Amino acid sequence: MLSLVKRLVKPYLVRAAHRRNERLRRELETAGRALGPQHWDAVVDDHGDLTLGGCRLQDLADRFGTPLHVVHEERLAANFRHFRDSFLARYPRVEVGFSYKTNPLPGALRILHRVGAIAEVISHFELWLALQLGVAPQNIVFNGPGKTVESLRLAVERGVRIINLDNADEADTIQRFAREYGRQQAVGVRVITSVGWAAQFGLPLHNGAALAAFQRIRQLDHLMPRGLHIHLGTGIKDVQVYARAVEELFDFAKLLKETHSIAIDFFDLGGGFGVPTVASYSPMDERLLNAGYPSRPIDIEDTPPLTVYASAIGELADRYFPGGTDSRPTLFFEPGRAVSSSAQLLLLRVLAIKPGPFGASNVILDGGHNLAIPTSYEYRHLLPIRNLQKSFTQKYNFFGPLCHPGDVLARACQLPPLQVGDVLAMMDAGAYFIPNQMNFSHTRPGAVIVCQGEVRLTRRAETFEHVVALDEGLSNGPVSHG
Ligand SMILES: Cc1ncc(COP(=O)(O)O)c(C=O)c1O
Repeated sequence: MLSLVKRLVKPYLVRAAHRRNERLRRELETAGRALGPQHWDAVVDDHGDLTLGGCRLQDLADRFGTPLHVVHEERLAANFRHFRDSFLARYPRVEVGFSYKTNPLPGALRILHRVGAIAEVISHFELWLALQLGVAPQNIVFNGPGKTVESLRLAVERGVRIINLDNADEADTIQRFAREYGRQQAVGVRVITSVGWAAQFGLPLHNGAALAAFQRIRQLDHLMPRGLHIHLGTGIKDVQVYARAVEELFDFAKLLKETHSIAIDFFDLGGGFGVPTVASYSPMDERLLNAGYPSRPIDIEDTPPLTVYASAIGELADRYFPGGTDSRPTLFFEPGRAVSSSAQLLLLRVLAIKPGPFGASNVILDGGHNLAIPTSYEYRHLLPIRNLQKSFTQKYNFFGPLCHPGDVLARACQLPPLQVGDVLAMMDAGAYFIPNQMNFSHTRPGAVIVCQGEVRLTRRAETFEHVVALDEGLSNGPVSHG
């Protein structure tokens, strides 16, 4: 009987497997196909050269050297405005910060503050940087799982807008400094909902830890409990994740109000919004990449527009907080990648080309995971900066210069023929590149800002001397071989 069932079912299983393989084969065939430069507001000029912000990228590489970060000022400002306006169109009290950790490049932060971004900081360094840039303390939101005592002192002394506690002990430290400086400090609590990141962050709603933190805060006379904070992850492309978490957050606020008379008027809904031209590698992609194949092609349609996130969240806000604008709470957002990712690229030069597997050539570039750590877990697009009018006929695997087999940037990319010395643009280098770059055998690059045909150097490239500037060893004379 069993063998009869098996015989009947087998052809269906074989056909289903065949269809699956066919789909995968078709996807792999289109992998590595170039996305058009228009996705990043880059323009191909009459000579087939790539320009950004009116500047020819080859000229920037010639003048400033490579590797080089290039920030597109207009795109950065436009991304920020687009984010804010998408939510403001749906709800009247919206404020938007920029997550400093995502791209702490002072020149780029300055652009964002000029168009109205609040500073979202999570460390003593980031708090210091915001103050150095002249951001008013009332425009600083202080989050983070590991706030040092010194950082809390500085935050309270200056009077930042709100400190979102990550653990209940922070309440006592803040109370101590608030009393010392004669201040009432607004505080919130980062909470963990049933969706999104939990890990070591914040306090869960489900086990009463978040509620207990508020009960503690209420006993401290220099603290004003005002806020609730979530941050659900990064590169999230599922609106339902936000809807679910925000609903739980609003329910908790209702409970605080009804049972503890605590009125929350500042909902910090975090960052995490995905961008179309970046995608996390799935376990399947990772298996493909490890076996030397390209990952599956990126689907730029799978990222909902910000207006869709805005309408899901706005609908909840309308339901929970009806009434006039003045009586409604503030919805605060602290995006990183949704604002900065697509507004910055990294120029990398071809150092060597040699034959590789499956008809592709292996190309070594002058920057790898030392500068572009996100390429180890997310797709980033590479564009040639010259010859864009030529056919994309060649297949290349790209590696960095590190002596490590894992220093892979991209596989099986279709590009016009390359030569040693050519420069490529790695797109979407504005999120988690700069904060993660390191001195692994190499120095760190400089950065320029381009805008309407003008270029300005905003960060000089590190020199060898910078790398060892804090060391003693070099001033002790030549080494002696013993
Ligand atoms: C607390 C917090 N807020 C905001 C962000 C920014 O996230 P994203 O770049 O995904 O928008 C992060 C990133 O990890 C974060 O940890």
